[in-house]
Amino acid sequence: MIKAVRGTRDLLPPETALWNFVEAAVRDVFRAYNFQEIRTPIFEETALFARGVGEETDIVAKEMYTWEDRARAASEKGQSLTLRPENTAGVVRAYIEHKLWDRGLNKLYYIGPQFRRERPQKGRYRQFYQIGAEVIGPASAGSESPARDAEVLEMLATLLDRLGITDWNLELNSVGTPADRAQFNDALRKALEPVSAQMCDDCQRRAVTNPLRVFDCKVPEDQPIIETLPRITQFLGEDSRKYFQAVQDILTKVGVRFSLNDRLVRGLDYYTRTAFEFTHGALGAQNAILGGGRYDGLSEALGGPAAPGIGFAIGEDRLVMSLKETAEGVIRKPDVYVAPMAGMNGEAARLARELRRHDLVIELGDDGFRLKKSFEAATKAGAKYILIVGESEVKADAFALKNLATGEQISVPRAELAGKIQG
Ligand code: HAM
Repeated sequence: MIKAVRGTRDLLPPETALWNFVEAAVRDVFRAYNFQEIRTPIFEETALFARGVGEETDIVAKEMYTWEDRARAASEKGQSLTLRPENTAGVVRAYIEHKLWDRGLNKLYYIGPQFRRERPQKGRYRQFYQIGAEVIGPASAGSESPARDAEVLEMLATLLDRLGITDWNLELNSVGTPADRAQFNDALRKALEPVSAQMCDDCQRRAVTNPLRVFDCKVPEDQPIIETLPRITQFLGEDSRKYFQAVQDILTKVGVRFSLNDRLVRGLDYYTRTAFEFTHGALGAQNAILGGGRYDGLSEALGGPAAPGIGFAIGEDRLVMSLKETAEGVIRKPDVYVAPMAGMNGEAARLARELRRHDLVIELGDDGFRLKKSFEAATKAGAKYILIVGESEVKADAFALKNLATGEQISVPRAELAGKIQG
């Protein structure tokens, strides 16, 4: 038997109703903040992620699905392509390719699959789904304002509240400007020099190439050493400090609660200044429901003009997981199971068509079923009512409507059916 590949999974009904519920709420909330949807390709040139996300990150160094595409001619080399592990790099590529700076401030969102070759576990998949948004544009359009950071965070708090997820914690940090970080990296290198030999292989390499990434280490034995390392907060320049304070002040003003976490550096290299994660208690080890931050230099790193930006991506799989308990009412079962007696498929279809126009969910049976089988099918579908369509009912233009929970059965004229069912 062929099964779904490890780390991938089928999303089946009724759970897919939860996914649709989440996505509908997302589109609704994001619209109120004037975000518009962007759809970028699921695979891109490998160089985009190497340059955008960073060679030394776990994502690029270990987790990408990369292949050499077939060459167009025997003399050519195949292009190196990669399934997108995240979508910020793709959005910024599109920003540059389509000169979106002409539009001023771009507020874009996306919903779609991402791919990382991580070790699968609860809440961690190799194909997973992100709901993300990016605010990007020339500084003259206001893209570099702390008001943008705070707005994005407030929007996320609003979305989670709207979904009934109240048990979230917003962790906030500033990873500074590239200049702040250069100093921090120097200090880290120095601090790591005498101790890195006792650390894992990855950290020994990171200590030399990209010391900040040591903070991504999950190896338990390394944690006591990491605890002793300097923190980015000590290296923030005056501007970074002021900026970070301005973001916090707005959040306080609008009543979005947060906590500061000076160990939060995020697993991608493009971040500058504001970095954040929302965690959720019920999720276990993979408790980051979403993450994001500012990436003021990314456009330039990808060959574009200066274009400060900030964004986030929600792990939709995790969002749905944290929603499951509260989402009972989301799954809509049929209002009516229409059961045609022998030869009545056409009449039943006509009636179903009429009722569906009243926004009722109708499951239509088959006139090859005996009445007992129709009742069984109606119960299995979870329908509220069963509606019998026989020759005598059609002649009388009134139909037997039975409430499957109470057993009550009444005859209802065609014109009153929808009202009766809705009532
Ligand atoms: P990220 O932190 O790598 O950021 O991913 C964002 C979220 O995607 C995580 O918090 C998590 O909920 C979810 N996620 C990541 N990997 C997996 C996985 N293997 N299985 C299930 N869920 C996962 C980014 O991707 C950035 N592009 C976010 C961003 C946008 N920053 C600025 N703009």
